[in-house]
Amino acid sequence: MTKVAIFASGSGSNFENIVRHVQQGHIEDIEITALYTDHHDAYCIKRAEQLGVSVHINEPKRFESKSHYEQHLLSLLSAEGVQWIVLAGYMRLIGEDILKAYPHKILNIHPSLLPKFKGIDAIGQAFRSGDSITGSTVHYVDNGMDTGEIIEQRQCDIRTDDTIETLEERVKQLEYELYPSVIAKIIR
Ligand code: GRF
Repeated sequence: MTKVAIFASGSGSNFENIVRHVQQGHIEDIEITALYTDHHDAYCIKRAEQLGVSVHINEPKRFESKSHYEQHLLSLLSAEGVQWIVLAGYMRLIGEDILKAYPHKILNIHPSLLPKFKGIDAIGQAFRSGDSITGSTVHYVDNGMDTGEIIEQRQCDIRTDDTIETLEERVKQLEYELYPSVIAKIIR
């Protein structure tokens, strides 16, 4: 069993989707050790409780520095024997300490066809761009913002009658297929 930690900051629908894939046997030989979140009131915590996944809540502001925060996370990750980290809406750059400890072992999903529309509000950026397609990208994490090596992308249309909400829903549906399938291929 490969041990995987999922990091999330918000709603956690990708987190829930990955856990369900593992629990239903659609991703084999992987154990999700815990959800790691940086917000005490993030909705992903409720999802984790419902799914029976343990949760580590660590708010960076309670630590002296980013390095202290990451060293604390590393001690938890190491105690759980975590081999891979999967970011699913974790709204924070991974720092040098964790990057060094997990070289080429951290994945992220981003809701655009990278290298287009890096950073926050990628769906809004795509929506306002005039482009007729967008999508989602799974990539390795490096020290930049959404700059790591691309692993796989899926695309979808931006329709003329879309609102941000309908586009977001279409991108999310792509992500719910893309992320589990990449995790099953790359991590296993
Ligand atoms: C996803 O769209 C993902 O691409 C981005 O953050 C969003 C997280 O959504 N990195 P959710 O919390 O999984 O619903």
